[in-house]
Amino acid sequence: MIVVTGGSGKLGRACVKDLMDHGYTVTSVDVTPPPGQSNPPKPGDVTYSRADVTDFGQAMAALSMIDERVEKVTGVVHLAAIAAPGQATNHVTFAVNTVSTYNIFEAARQLGIRNVVWASSETVYGIPYPKGPRYVPVDEEIESPETAYSLSKLMGEKMAEQFCRWDPRTKIIGLRFSNVQEPQDYEHFAGYDKDPHSRKFNLWTYIDARDASQAIRLALESKLKGAHVIGIANSDGVMRRGNDELLEKVFPKAKRKRDLKANESLISIDKARDVLGYKPKHDWRKKTKAKA
Ligand SMILES: NC(=O)c1ccc[n+]([C@@H]2O[C@H](COP(=O)([O-])OP(=O)(O)OC[C@H]3O[C@@H](n4cnc5c(N)ncnc54)[C@H](O)[C@@H]3O)[C@@H](O)[C@H]2O)c1
Repeated sequence: MIVVTGGSGKLGRACVKDLMDHGYTVTSVDVTPPPGQSNPPKPGDVTYSRADVTDFGQAMAALSMIDERVEKVTGVVHLAAIAAPGQATNHVTFAVNTVSTYNIFEAARQLGIRNVVWASSETVYGIPYPKGPRYVPVDEEIESPETAYSLSKLMGEKMAEQFCRWDPRTKIIGLRFSNVQEPQDYEHFAGYDKDPHSRKFNLWTYIDARDASQAIRLALESKLKGAHVIGIANSDGVMRRGNDELLEKVFPKAKRKRDLKANESLISIDKARDVLGYKPKHDWRKKTKAKA
């Protein structure tokens, strides 16, 4: 049994579906029920339990014994959070995200669940970029939070290192997701190209919710031990203009760490490819071409 916290959210819904499609038994734990959930649940609905994981007792219960439906939990996907800067006041965002991540790591530790995948964020690369990145593509060496939200994600990465030091049999993988998109979001992409400054906040990158879910599944299945941080984006960016033109116009001071392909993601996914075998399948321009 895999418990997914935040399973009713944008990424959580895609993750739950992907895991169930791949044969996993899943329980979604969230303060909000899955959209369209009926009572009693229909065949094929995810098992859902309401729990607020900022409360340690509820986090422990969610990973151990919600009720008779829950089998032994073998892995946790922790996505529940205040999911962006500005969705709450800074101190609330920091407190909710840091405490809920601590609670999930600690509940997993106490229950001997040594397989944890959680959502860190592209913001740890320094996004949003008023002045631009030091170098591109940005990669996992960068720790440059600019907001309370991003700081809460970096705290999660640091906590993961210590939890894995305490028990080296543990695996905690933090995935630094780019901005999550669902298929209906792609209709807006063509419009971005008019203005090179549009979407500069995250270096014109994105992650399809289905590819993000692939990365989560691969991370759960990975044989790694210890704490790891891995950047996850699609292999291309949102713009039709090439990287040379975009960088020259918007961030002329950004150094190139290596040669860049015209439309490749400026969040590096080299580590995800090497370590997880991640292969994004839902790059938006492939789909748009296929439709044309
Ligand atoms: N959306 C993005 O662009 C993006 C980018 C990078 C990282 N992330 C991270 O990915 C994760 C999922 O993001 P999302 O876009 O699906 O967000 P979302 O807001 O759509 O979903 C978050 C879910 O968490 C639940 N939740 C919040 N606090 C909770 C709590 N205390 N206990 C239980 N459930 C709680 C909410 O009810 C919601 O269903 C978050 O951790 C977010 O920080 C998102």
